[in-house]
Amino acid sequence: MIGQDVKRAAALLKEGALVAIPTETVYGLAANALNDAAVAQIFEAKDRPAYDPLIIHTDQIEKIQHLVEEIPAPLKKLLDAFSPGPLTFLLRKKLDGISDQVTAGLPTVAVRIPAHPVTQELLSLLDFPVAAPSANPFGYISPTRAQHVADQLGEQVPYILDGGNCDFGLESTIVGLTEDGQVRVFRKGGISIEDIEGIVGPVLVNDVSASNPKAPGMLKSHYAPKTPIYVGQTSKVISNLSGKKIAYIGFNMLNFELPVEDQYLLSMGFDLKEAASNLFAVMRQLDQSKKYDAIVADWFPDQGIGKAINDRLRRASSEFQ
Ligand code: TXA
Ligand code: MG
Repeated sequence: MIGQDVKRAAALLKEGALVAIPTETVYGLAANALNDAAVAQIFEAKDRPAYDPLIIHTDQIEKIQHLVEEIPAPLKKLLDAFSPGPLTFLLRKKLDGISDQVTAGLPTVAVRIPAHPVTQELLSLLDFPVAAPSANPFGYISPTRAQHVADQLGEQVPYILDGGNCDFGLESTIVGLTEDGQVRVFRKGGISIEDIEGIVGPVLVNDVSASNPKAPGMLKSHYAPKTPIYVGQTSKVISNLSGKKIAYIGFNMLNFELPVEDQYLLSMGFDLKEAASNLFAVMRQLDQSKKYDAIVADWFPDQGIGKAINDRLRRASSEFQ
């Protein structure tokens, strides 16, 4: 059920049950990260493969410090600059802390301090971190509203804590260090590369590429709607799809080759942050309406959070599957 009772959500998590939680990025499917039986239910509910590790969430870094090695200086700077917020850190874990089930056997654990006030309050009532992937069936678009979670995982999740529409609407940026100590962005997201470089200087960036699909955080099947989606070269794609019912996703300008009623513009005000917050909800709406044979989208300006929008479009696109 969907509700706003933070104390009830905390009690369920303490008992080892699953709770869907609102964050500023997307809704998460949370369980006590220190309870293996609870974490196992996350994998089961999402049908998620055991090799895909989870992010742990806490309201204060002090609460998880005994579970990880010392935070390297550049990551500490980023933590100070952007947490709480949509940035996830890959930290070396201590041997007897977070189980291999959470981290898929990796030596690092992903840690995030979400900024959403409802989840901040929830986490403040807990003395353990919660493991929480996005609250969608594995491989599908992440949920940005409580109802999205109810639609797909309502049967498996006893309580969905409603915190309204997610502000960012796409997942956190994931940062870590390479073997030789350089900062690497493993997944583009809510905090832009430019913002990160403003704090620590030039960073390495993992781009999604079909030749490297198995790097953690980079599974290519992520974020895909069931309706085929084609990104870029819209004129050519539209003529190849002639006779099919097509929806268009764009920034703020209508596509003159398609009927106006089939067009979904993500930000009339030309605001990339607003476009990001609408992207998944629109993809989901188009997919679930079953009205369309295909979705055609234009690339967004490749700057700021536009890079994360393009990353999600690329992963969702049919050419890439
Ligand atoms: O915004 C977010 O990050 C949301 C909210 C709920 O916090 N969570 C989220 O979780 O997107 P999930 O599980 O859908 O995506 C987490 C990604 C996965 O692709 C996983 O492979 C990667 O993080 N990941 C987790 N632990 C990792 C690790 N130790 N090393 C590398 N990648 C890791
Ligand atoms: Mg996910």
